[in-house]
Amino acid sequence: MKWLKVCRKDEIPERGGRAVLAGGSRIAVFRLSDGRVVAVEDRCPHKEGPLSDGLLTGATVICPMHHWKIDLESGNALPPDCGCVKTYETKVDDGIVWLRL
Ligand code: FES
Repeated sequence: MKWLKVCRKDEIPERGGRAVLAGGSRIAVFRLSDGRVVAVEDRCPHKEGPLSDGLLTGATVICPMHHWKIDLESGNALPPDCGCVKTYETKVDDGIVWLRL
């Protein structure tokens, strides 16, 4: 595993997300209201909707396609739905976002 630089933190909308390409994968990075940056694969476990375009509420993203809710810390869909996405370790150093892949 190695750390990859993906974007500047200020390139991610506050309380929003964006897609980045890293290690051949499309990854959704989010900037939570508490300032943390979290990352998951950008593919909803339901029908592969782009989670990076979803609406954030706390540490949960609502998929723009059919509104499944995905917990961004665990990667798990919230009940009654069932499924999960891969999560990635993140760090922010001097305003730069890194992902561990
Ligand atoms: S593709 Fe995400 S809820 Fe259907």
